[in-house]
Amino acid sequence: MLSRSDAAEPVPSEKKPPLLIIDSDGGVDDMLALTMAASLCRDRLAALTAVFGNVGVAQAASNIAYSLRLAGISPLPPIALGAASGSCGFSRGAQDVHGEDGLGGARRVFAGEDPPEFPTLDTVVERLLPMHGRHARFEILAIGPASNAPRLVELLGPSRIVRIVTMGGSLLDRGNITEVAEFNAHADPEALRSVLAGTVPVTLVPLDICRKVVLSRAAIEALPPGPDGRLEPLKAALRAYAAGYRRWEGIEGCFPHDAIALLVLLRPDRFHIVRCDVDVDLTPERYGMTRAMRMDDGGRHGVAFGGDLKWVRGMIERGWLRDAAGSAT
Ligand code: RIB
Ligand code: CA
Repeated sequence: MLSRSDAAEPVPSEKKPPLLIIDSDGGVDDMLALTMAASLCRDRLAALTAVFGNVGVAQAASNIAYSLRLAGISPLPPIALGAASGSCGFSRGAQDVHGEDGLGGARRVFAGEDPPEFPTLDTVVERLLPMHGRHARFEILAIGPASNAPRLVELLGPSRIVRIVTMGGSLLDRGNITEVAEFNAHADPEALRSVLAGTVPVTLVPLDICRKVVLSRAAIEALPPGPDGRLEPLKAALRAYAAGYRRWEGIEGCFPHDAIALLVLLRPDRFHIVRCDVDVDLTPERYGMTRAMRMDDGGRHGVAFGGDLKWVRGMIERGWLRDAAGSAT
């Protein structure tokens, strides 16, 4: 029997996809992922949470707002300030990769004002259940250091979170911040470890798959400028990012890590997801190194190692623009 409060709450239909929370550290590939999300799953965007990483947390929140405004989202969904540093106090940015503003200088183009003040993560998340009802279900796309994820799980309750898809780690490949560690995992391995140890299903999108998908310079140039040239700053940011990748990796393009993670969340059926147990090394010599165990024997986590990469490239290059109102088909 329904209580009065149950009866007043919206009960999501079986077919309705979960609401989406995107946790981002405000870099260039984050901007691409956010722009794509605005096009592919705008109706599901319940909140955005900022985390330190590529830039400081306040700049990351501002970059999230900027990216969503460029994508034509108005009014903005709630955007929260999350962790300003990792569990062990780490907070160094990646301005050498993403530029001083985190967006390769694209912020030179004015695109409206930020909200006067970004609320805290707790404030935003505590409003979500009254707003969407206690039957609401969530997915979390974490595309920065994992520092906010344990608190999100605590505040929403693990049973309300369908899964967490997180870009991070490098399992069979070398790292990108140290020889053995990937940037997001290295920035807060303790938080990543806590997420992996929890009861919420986790799908990891490591460097292994990201390095298989190059967004080429030609493809960046071929991205349409959008209405009134609105997407030009995204193209400028990607151009600057690709200039860095030419120096570091000798490639003519860039790895769109966070955009790939978004597609894994939206269309897991397009990916080759291996079940295994993932752990994170906390020893000083291998800090932030991720390892996959029991790869031949199933395991608690999913790791996207490959998939229909032609589709993935197509979606990142043009698919999301074609399907501005629909789903990632
Ligand atoms: O290692 C790549 C990841 O680190 C991406 O999420 C990028 O934005 C940075 O956060
Ligand atoms: Ca990121």
